[in-house]
Amino acid sequence: MDEAVAILRAGGLVALPTETVYGLGASALSTTAVSRVFALKGRPTHHPLIVHLASADLAPGWAEMTPYAALLASRFWPGPLTMVLRRGPLAQDVVTGGLETVGVRVPDHPLTLEVLRAFGSGVAAPSANRFGRISPTSAEHVAEEFQGVAEGHLAILDGGPCKVGLESTIIDLSGDSPAVLRLGAITPPQLEEVLGVPVRLSLHAERARAPGQLASHYAPQARLEVVPPQAFEARRDELERDGIKVATLGSELGDSSESWARNLYHALRAADARGPEVILVPTPPPGALRAALDDRLARAAAPRR
Ligand code: TXA
Ligand code: MG
Repeated sequence: MDEAVAILRAGGLVALPTETVYGLGASALSTTAVSRVFALKGRPTHHPLIVHLASADLAPGWAEMTPYAALLASRFWPGPLTMVLRRGPLAQDVVTGGLETVGVRVPDHPLTLEVLRAFGSGVAAPSANRFGRISPTSAEHVAEEFQGVAEGHLAILDGGPCKVGLESTIIDLSGDSPAVLRLGAITPPQLEEVLGVPVRLSLHAERARAPGQLASHYAPQARLEVVPPQAFEARRDELERDGIKVATLGSELGDSSESWARNLYHALRAADARGPEVILVPTPPPGALRAALDDRLARAAAPRR
C-alpha cells in the first residue's frame, strides 16, 4: 500500500480494488497522470472519470455537496454509489471531460480506503479494462487486460475478488431532478427512500456522456444471447446443430441476483476464453440486482459498432 501511494504521488498508475470492480487509478490533480489512464485504456479523452475519495469530508473542493448529496453520502458512502455533482475548483477538465459536473465516490474496500487516506487527495479511476471490454473483478483480470500493453508500467494492488461485481450506481444530482445514469447495487427505490423524492431513469443518453450508457459496452468477444431458462437447452441444441460453437453460463453464477452480480464478469471472461462464437446466458433470477444485471447483459448482447 505504501508503494501504491508513492506511485500515485509520482504521477504513476495503480489498479485499485473496490467493492464494485477494479479501478485504474491516477492522481486526479495530475493532468499527465490522468492522460496516461486514457492512453492505457484506449478510451476517448472526452469521457469523464470518477474521482475516488477516502471520505465525504474531502468532497467539497471537488464537487458541490448539495443537501441531497450530503444525505446520500451519509447513507451510502463508503459504497457503490457515484454522484454526479456540479464541479468544484479541484476537478479539472481532463477528469470531467470538460463537463460542468464531476462524478465522485467513496469506494468500500479496506485496502483502497487506506491508500486513499494516505494519499490524501482524489484518485481518478475508470474501470481497469481496455475500452469497451468487460470490467475486471479480480487482480488477475486486470493483469490479463493490460498484458503486453503496460509491461512494467502498471502496479496492481490485489484486494481479492470484488464483493459486488457490477459497476457503481450513478446518480446525477446536478439537474432539476435526480436521475440515475447507471444501475448498480444501490437501487432507485433505495435512493428515493433517502431523498424523499422520485428518481428518474436516464440510462440511454442520446449523446452518451457515460461510456456505460453506450448500447454496446461491457462486451465479450463472442456474441452473447440471453435466453429464458425454459428455452435454454433447445436454443443450445439448435445452435450446435448449425455447427456453431457455444459456451453456456449457468450454475457457476449461483442462484441470487447478488451472486450473479459477483460472478457474472468472471464467468463471461472464462466462457470467452474458450473461444466460442456464442455465449448463452439464462435470464437472471429476480432480486435487488436484477435490473442492473438485465442492463449489463443487454449491453453485452447489443450489436457492436
Ligand atoms: O464502480 C465504479 O464506478 C468503478 C470503480 C472503479 O469505482 N468505476 C467505473 O468507472 O465504472 P468508469 O469510468 O468505467 O465508469 C464511470 C462512468 C462512466 O460511464 C462515466 O462517463 C460516468 O461514470 N461519469 C463520470 N463522470 C460523469 C459526469 N460528470 N457526468 C456523467 N457521467 C459521468
Ligand atoms: Mg468502465
